[in-house]
Amino acid sequence: MPAPPTTPPPPTTPANTTTNAAEAASAVGAAPAEAVTPLVRGVAVLRQLTQAGGTLSPSALERATGLARSTVDRITATLARMGYVRLDGRDVVLTPRLMELGNAYLAALRLPALLAARADALADELDESVSLAVGDRDGIRFIHQATRRRAMSLSFRIGDLLPAERTAPGALFATEWTDEDWRRWHERRSADPENKGFPAIPPRSPLPTDDFANRTARAGQEGWSLDDQLIEPGLVAVSAPVRDPATGRIACVASVVSHTSRHTARDLRTTLLPRLRETVSAMEGDLRDTPPSAPPAPPSGLAAWTAASKQELGRDFIESLARGLTVLTAFDEDRPALTLTEVAKATGLTRATARRALITHEHLGLVTQSPGTRTFTLTPRVLSLGFPPLSRTSLSRIAQPHLEDLASRVHESTSLAVLTPSGDEIQYTARAAASRIMSVDITVGTRAPAHATALGQALLTPQAYALTDEELEQGLRSIAAPVRDRTGRRIAAANIAMHATAHTHEECTDHLLPALRQTTASIEADLHMTARFTHVPLA
Ligand code: PHB
Repeated sequence: MPAPPTTPPPPTTPANTTTNAAEAASAVGAAPAEAVTPLVRGVAVLRQLTQAGGTLSPSALERATGLARSTVDRITATLARMGYVRLDGRDVVLTPRLMELGNAYLAALRLPALLAARADALADELDESVSLAVGDRDGIRFIHQATRRRAMSLSFRIGDLLPAERTAPGALFATEWTDEDWRRWHERRSADPENKGFPAIPPRSPLPTDDFANRTARAGQEGWSLDDQLIEPGLVAVSAPVRDPATGRIACVASVVSHTSRHTARDLRTTLLPRLRETVSAMEGDLRDTPPSAPPAPPSGLAAWTAASKQELGRDFIESLARGLTVLTAFDEDRPALTLTEVAKATGLTRATARRALITHEHLGLVTQSPGTRTFTLTPRVLSLGFPPLSRTSLSRIAQPHLEDLASRVHESTSLAVLTPSGDEIQYTARAAASRIMSVDITVGTRAPAHATALGQALLTPQAYALTDEELEQGLRSIAAPVRDRTGRRIAAANIAMHATAHTHEECTDHLLPALRQTTASIEADLHMTARFTHVPLA
């Protein structure tokens, strides 16, 4: 008997191939004819890098996206030119600059800027983690975290996507779901019953007692909801909705997260819920009292640089990818919703180009057209472009590649240091050794008196740089410049250290100082991008 014909494998659309079904869910189905293919592929590369924690080799990217190596190389060259990735040896690494996309969403949303301080204050008062989340189709996505680090439980990052049914906020958002939303949810549940498509949480089969529709009905009646170890054993949470005063709909959900070693899920209602509800009322008051800002003139010519890059990099620079991503940066706090004409004006793109980019972003679930209006807004899914891994970093990690770059340019060792809490010592928090055999060798963690070091002087005295001799040991010369936070406060300093015979004072100020200043400016640019909506620890 002839063997039955085998079913051929289903065709895959290369750029839609992804290990994370949940992230790709909105991009299933054929792309509209006008979608910009390089933009679809570039977004797929950014999502794969994000899911991998921020770093992949080109060959791993090739496998993960199904794209040809030459295509991967052109996409990464374009993203590198945009400052969204850097090439580190063989690896492609996401850079803080990419956070401008997620920042555009968070700024346009306005909720983190308006509500974060109250969430932080509640976390301090209760000594428990407090988060803010928005609904993202049949999932929830965190937009703010006031995290109390504990030994025993998971903590989520800004931009992490969780399945609605495994969280307390999910049951509240589901009270507003349409039949279409429930249909999509059922479909996802049957395709992925263990939530394997959500890398932020451990997979788990549905519990027999786990009836999401019931929990949603209860959340609707009571106005709050519980997570009794739905994510992992021990983790409990209580949530309440923050409603938009204009529409009455849920703007975001605030949660207090604890552990069964401190609270049972049952007693969250009596211990933590009352304070959470007070905070939520205050948040709703803040939303009522803050009028929408008057729209300022949109920026113009955001995409003007792309033509020059094309000229310089030629075939390797994919202009349509760069222009398409730039469209996302047209949105901001003062420009939460834009018409096609406004997007074209802000970016300097033609209407036709801006329109095709918006159609592509809509297909990818990154942009949505508000019903009944001609305006576009960004969706929470923009946070899937790099935000979770990039938001969990420190100043020393931000500085490291810049210090390495400086050390290789000036052939001397470079360091970053911060003041210790007492204020009279500095502590080295990052360093890069020069390639020289006789380079200055100081290890991270070393402390030194602040007043006797250029690093300490650059942190403490209001001058632009500091130059010292005989620092730490005889014959050692150091030139240092401060690193400032978003408010202009000096929070760290970077230096170049050398043997005194290597460079005269004049050489230090004429040649080394400009290079050092470029480095501190790059560190500051990355820090300010990262710290706009996240807390960045110093070390
Ligand atoms: C969290 O903020 O980590 C969180 C919030 C709600 C949950 C679970 C975790 O249900």
